[in-house]
Amino acid sequence: MFIEIALNDIHPLLNQIEEQFQFDLREYSTATLRRRIHRILLLFHLRNLEEFSDLLKNDPSIFPMLLNELTVNTTEMFRDVDCWKSISQEVIPKLQSNQPIKVWHNGCSSGEEVYSFLILAMEAGLDSQLELIGTDVNTSCLEVARSGIYEMKFMNKYNQQYIASGGKKSLFDYGESLGDHYFQFHQNVRDKVTFSYLDIIQDVGVQNCDLIFSRNVLIYFMMPLQERIFSKIYSCLKKDAYFCLGKNENLAWTIDFKNMKESFENKYIFQKSSL
Ligand SMILES: C[S@@+](CC[C@H](N)C(=O)[O-])C[C@H]1O[C@@H](n2cnc3c(N)ncnc32)[C@H](O)[C@@H]1O
Repeated sequence: MFIEIALNDIHPLLNQIEEQFQFDLREYSTATLRRRIHRILLLFHLRNLEEFSDLLKNDPSIFPMLLNELTVNTTEMFRDVDCWKSISQEVIPKLQSNQPIKVWHNGCSSGEEVYSFLILAMEAGLDSQLELIGTDVNTSCLEVARSGIYEMKFMNKYNQQYIASGGKKSLFDYGESLGDHYFQFHQNVRDKVTFSYLDIIQDVGVQNCDLIFSRNVLIYFMMPLQERIFSKIYSCLKKDAYFCLGKNENLAWTIDFKNMKESFENKYIFQKSSL
């Protein structure tokens, strides 16, 4: 079934969400929002945006569930192997002398990216210095991240990507199978990460970081919002700290990015210049 959603009709709904829940979706990319809203209408058997609006008025407790549907949560372990190779061979060795090493994953989804970094850092012997924080607004994804449980059907692919990224063992050494279909990271691995709710638009970022990952998050925002968010992230980076973007993202046009230098020629990892 296809329900027509006119662009102008989305704005009153986004204003309502901002007023009612203080969650600001007004500068999210409209193409993505339209697709996600369409999906929600079908999932919740709503016939139009008025019914969506009424549902929020009559049952505000449903908002977190709807927000989870509105965000795009695609992720993987060791996604974009080139990036992880640079993280393991070039960034991690440079962080070794920092005490503590504070690393923040903004928009961590269900945690795959965070465990990827953690395992490479553990193999470099950095885990005792590590303060590792993953944040997101999607509460279901955060629960998965905290549980450290992932579908077994993806694990062989993730293991290959881990080895290609410079992993020294096997991903399976870091957890155990739960029945036939799931894999769970060991408790001592999970204990090394904190996952929390943080809305990068409204909330204060994690301060004094040595490395920030913000991969495939800002790409869903309109350009003025991307610029404001990068400015916030920039202020959370310590001098000489590293910043990692998604493969198809580019912030070179923003003001604060002028103070970032490209590292390692792979175009995803940058360093705050010490000027
Ligand atoms: C495509 S996922 C990226 C996951 C991971 N960083 C990666 O690249 O594999 C984008 C994530 O950004 C999160 N997100 C969207 N809006 C956000 C906001 N305002 N604050 C924090 N996270 C947000 C979504 O919930 C989603 O989990």
